[in-house]
Amino acid sequence: MVENGRLRSNVVSSQTALHAPYRGVVPELAARGHLNNLMPAVARALKDAGPGKIGAVAYTRGPGLMGPLLVGKVAAQTLARLLGVPALGVNHLEGHVLAAELEHTLRWPVMALVVSGGHTDLVLARAPGDYRVLGRTRDDAAGEAYDKVARLFGLGYPGGPEIDRRAAKGNPSAVAFPRPSMPGTWDFSFSGLKTSVLYHLKGRVPKGRELHDLCASFQEAAAETLVDKTVAAARKFKAKDIVLGGGVAANSRLRALMTERGEAAGFQVRLPARVLCTDNAAMIAHAAGRRFAAKGAWKAGPCDSALPVRSWK
Ligand code: KG4
Ligand code: ZN
Repeated sequence: MVENGRLRSNVVSSQTALHAPYRGVVPELAARGHLNNLMPAVARALKDAGPGKIGAVAYTRGPGLMGPLLVGKVAAQTLARLLGVPALGVNHLEGHVLAAELEHTLRWPVMALVVSGGHTDLVLARAPGDYRVLGRTRDDAAGEAYDKVARLFGLGYPGGPEIDRRAAKGNPSAVAFPRPSMPGTWDFSFSGLKTSVLYHLKGRVPKGRELHDLCASFQEAAAETLVDKTVAAARKFKAKDIVLGGGVAANSRLRALMTERGEAAGFQVRLPARVLCTDNAAMIAHAAGRRFAAKGAWKAGPCDSALPVRSWK
């Protein structure tokens, strides 16, 4: 629950254990999991927030898996109808862009890097509600690359945290993996990096020190690729702040390198706490709250997020 841009409670009902045996998200299980977990999570969030009056109920419109989105939408609209308040649909990625605002006052324009299991989007946010997607991945999303490389390393799902943990014990210069730069565009590409890990392994599953070194070397290449393009875009479009969002924004090396290079280039780098990087309802409530407060003034539309779900350019 969010009130005036401040977090009153944040309950995340994780489905990681449910999907881990399949090494990826199973859409049907995800939808059923949402059906079971949604109302207990809502009850807990209300309890944690304490007494107060609810002004609106927010839900994620997409992009995302159709089943879980539908469960969320129907539940939010039902609650809103019962409470006699509006139900506000929010673009998932707008939530990630604004998550940092739950803890920091941002200076606009903001250059936002949204890196998750499904997206790698570089977004110029001129003001809240005014977004331009400058670039995105041409192939794998950053999180998807982490998850696929983790599988090559024989690690579990989700791969990001598994690689992150082992990378802390490894040497990032052990293997010089490529930093695909996609010159002349603001797009990213991670399939080449993933393929070079595949060729390097030649079918072996690394263990011990070699595994740690490979995790650190892959992580360094992924982080550098993301950071250098984001900082260059922030310079070019005269952003004041750089923000990160999405599950991969929880990555230790990405956070450290973005802070180091972004601040050296004169930007304020604002990182959401890790729980606000991975998918969470608080960022959706906050984005809806901003829209609700701005009413008709919000460029993209009155209350319901007018950003198209598939492409939000
Ligand atoms: O935003 P998110 O929670 O869900 C989507 O909307 O996709 O992102 C999930 C992704 C997964 O691919 C996971 O491996 C990655 O975020 N991830 C990480 C870390 N924690 C989660 N990647 C790198 N390092 C991490 N510490
Ligand atoms: Zn997400």
